[in-house]
Amino acid sequence: MAVTALVGAQWGDEGKGKVIDILAQKSDMVVRAQGGNNAGHTVVANGVTYKLRLIPSGILYKGAVCVVGNGVVIDPAVILSEMDALKDSGVDVSRLKIDARAHVILPYHLALDELSEKARGAGDIGTTKRGIGPCYMDKAERIGIRMCDLIKPAVFEEKLKRNVEIKNNIITKIYGGEPISFEKTLADYKQYAQKLAPYVCDTSVLVFNAIKSGKNVLFEGAQGALLDLDVGTYPYVTSSHPVSGGFCVGAGVGPTLIKECLGIAKAYTTRVGKGPFPTELDDEIGERIRTVGAEFGTVTGRPRRCGWLDAVILRFAVRVNGLTGIALNKLDTLTGISKLKVCVAYKKDGAQICDFPSDISELEGCEPVYEEFDGWTEDVTGAKSLNDLPANAVKYLRAVEKLIDCPIKMVGVGPDRTQNFEI
Ligand code: IMP
Repeated sequence: MAVTALVGAQWGDEGKGKVIDILAQKSDMVVRAQGGNNAGHTVVANGVTYKLRLIPSGILYKGAVCVVGNGVVIDPAVILSEMDALKDSGVDVSRLKIDARAHVILPYHLALDELSEKARGAGDIGTTKRGIGPCYMDKAERIGIRMCDLIKPAVFEEKLKRNVEIKNNIITKIYGGEPISFEKTLADYKQYAQKLAPYVCDTSVLVFNAIKSGKNVLFEGAQGALLDLDVGTYPYVTSSHPVSGGFCVGAGVGPTLIKECLGIAKAYTTRVGKGPFPTELDDEIGERIRTVGAEFGTVTGRPRRCGWLDAVILRFAVRVNGLTGIALNKLDTLTGISKLKVCVAYKKDGAQICDFPSDISELEGCEPVYEEFDGWTEDVTGAKSLNDLPANAVKYLRAVEKLIDCPIKMVGVGPDRTQNFEI
């Protein structure tokens, strides 16, 4: 697998965790480079269930070095609780490396995420309220506090004092919220700093050296292409770069070093939070997909909006990520639906739109143009290769490949790690 990037090809929640988990077992290093604990996946290993939000799941496999790169925003309390849970299950966390440049989420980020969403009223984004956006705002404003600051007590105290003053002004005077306590934050974060300091280093050097010495390095994406701050469905996006280019900036590696890029998609589409969704189903098929596919958020528990597969979106994901392959998950969820639809283009004012619009307001009034496929009723959950799939399922997969001009390299037919095969 050498150097592989794995990204979400839709709006996140594509089942990346399972594919990451499969590939992590073959990896010498697993790298996170963007987002924070707005992401989340559940891994079942050796009968134990682990809920990971920040630490790459490679931590469960002996030998894999797990990197939290400079582009990730870190809530120290969350990463420490993940580390404690792992330690309690006998997992060695000394292989965890946290970049010194990664920004730290502070209590005022959480407060501002909540307050600013509330203030937007009906125009809210539907964030996960984990302080992600406000933390990246500080990074862009150049007042952010980084891991290298956190672990230097005097530097941290000075920066925290300045920021708490600024943020409390905004919290109380603009939003009418409760101020953050400087003393409590200082005391809590001093403790976090002591515990995290041994893991902090320059991870860009580690990643570069691993790649140069021929190691298998897996870049683990969070969220999905449509949630990208730049190319996604702005403003209904996250504040980082879930596209493959995000790995370069967020892990400090050049683009020529990443050889393969696998996009993870579901055999249908889902999204949480607000924003347009052309193939959304507000009917019993949408409800059926939600129930059968257990489409409820891992971080917030919110029911996910469900709809047909959208090839316009997947073509967008192929383009903006330079995908070399697709892993199509949850094919089993479609079993029993007699007619399956795939959106091949949008239609608006008599014109056909084949490329996902750069301005989401253009999606208003767009009608999906569907191609219909016969479904299947046979159980596919035990399939180990294409030969085990019903003919109509294979036809569906081949048609999708053609519509998006990208090979399907993996198929998921159930939640277990073993219910997945390569093509
Ligand atoms: P934030 O990342 O919490 O700021 O939320 C911004 C948008 O991204 C919201 O619509 C969230 O629901 C969405 N989002 C963030 N993380 C994920 C994820 O891991 N999966 C799916 N949606 C996400």
